Amino acid sequence: MNGYYHIITYGCQMNVHDSEKIAGMLGEMGYINTDKIDNADIIVFNTCCIRENAENHAYGNIGMLKKLKSAKKDLIIAVGGCMPQQIGKADILHKKFPYVDIIFGTHNLGNLKELILEKRSGKKSVVEITDGGEVTEGDNPLRTSYPNAWVNIMYGCDNFCSYCIVPYVRGRERSRLPENILAEAQGLVKDGYKEITLLGQNVNSYGKGIDGASFPSLLNSIASFDGKFRLRFMTSHPKDFSEDLVKVIAANPKICNNVHLPVQSGSDRILKAMNRRYTSKQYLEKIEILKKYIPDCTVTTDLIVGFPGETDEDFKDTLNLVKEVGYSSAFTFVYSPRQGTRAAQMDNQIPEDISKARIMELVELVNSQTREQSAKYVGKTCEILCEGYDEKKDIFLGRDEYGRMGYFKSEENPVGEFVNIKITEANGVSLYGEKIR
Ligand code: 5AD
Ligand code: SF4
Repeated sequence: MNGYYHIITYGCQMNVHDSEKIAGMLGEMGYINTDKIDNADIIVFNTCCIRENAENHAYGNIGMLKKLKSAKKDLIIAVGGCMPQQIGKADILHKKFPYVDIIFGTHNLGNLKELILEKRSGKKSVVEITDGGEVTEGDNPLRTSYPNAWVNIMYGCDNFCSYCIVPYVRGRERSRLPENILAEAQGLVKDGYKEITLLGQNVNSYGKGIDGASFPSLLNSIASFDGKFRLRFMTSHPKDFSEDLVKVIAANPKICNNVHLPVQSGSDRILKAMNRRYTSKQYLEKIEILKKYIPDCTVTTDLIVGFPGETDEDFKDTLNLVKEVGYSSAFTFVYSPRQGTRAAQMDNQIPEDISKARIMELVELVNSQTREQSAKYVGKTCEILCEGYDEKKDIFLGRDEYGRMGYFKSEENPVGEFVNIKITEANGVSLYGEKIR
């Protein structure tokens, strides 16, 4: 053993899975995980920069380590992921936190072992940020979310939505070969994972540049594996969400009837300025196709308020679209200008008080829809894949196919099993029920 590691992860599922890869590498180097940061010999921050508050969280927490570092000279602190990948950010980090030992970008994650060895060989600080574009294979992640397993199918994004920093920090879109994805997914099912979530910034354009590869056919192949498991995917871009894909979801019971389809805004003017390349009408047509083939399919979304130039009228269009679709839940964000993106240069940035009032109204609408839909579940039976145990409340929890959280009591430990529960109470997105024997 080489000591203890502690990883702090910010941001999306892609980052959560990257942290599993980091944990795999640290394990191979002889480090062991610790939940107590004070015990760690190496602390890794896997950062996010999608909105300013994600960066501020990381700044605050890295800042708090100064004391620990001065008390423990051999402690290695590494900061990686999306934040340092931004142009000029590594320098800022280095100046602000001179006690950080290793700074690495999103494209340098595979090299972390070498960077740690370099640091341990006596180098003062190690910085590696390169522009990437490769697809790496042979990662050995230490998975932490059993019974769910994340599988990358593609990296990067070519869409350049005008508000979004992802294409700048994750690079151009590139897909893994289908045979490598299928082998990984097959291995996971054999190992007893009960839910596979395919990850990509824009899964619907999977396979570009690979002969014969497409997202619907990839999904179909995985869904035809033997065994009981669920298949999910995220994130879909509405412009590439096709009828073929809907048919594949409808035809395969293993693929969950729950789709995350970020709309961002209901106003055509704002969608154009966001460079989303669909209108609200085209979006609604996609929802119509989805409901035609899969009437019970739940839809979740991402919404941004306060994009530059958003008027009350534009915001009303968003509220109306939310009402029309009837999302089962939604992630709502206040627009955050990101340096280097087109939207950050736009006139008419919206004052904070207006954005705050809008997001409150939007959250209230989304929550009321969620409550209304959840209430309909009372008295029904749901199949929950048990994911964990809440010690404080002495209750097991998991999700149904449609993405709703279900809570129930159990004498035995059913983590990793499918459990039928009869819903007795609904509270927001949460359903409470009794296990059916
Ligand atoms: N400001 C606010 N929200 C953003 N998102 C992406 N960039 C920004 C930004 N600059 C949101 C989008 C996206 C989700 C992952 O984060 O809604 O779908
Ligand atoms: Fe960002 Fe748009 Fe790409 Fe999503 S599709 S990662 S919002 S640029």
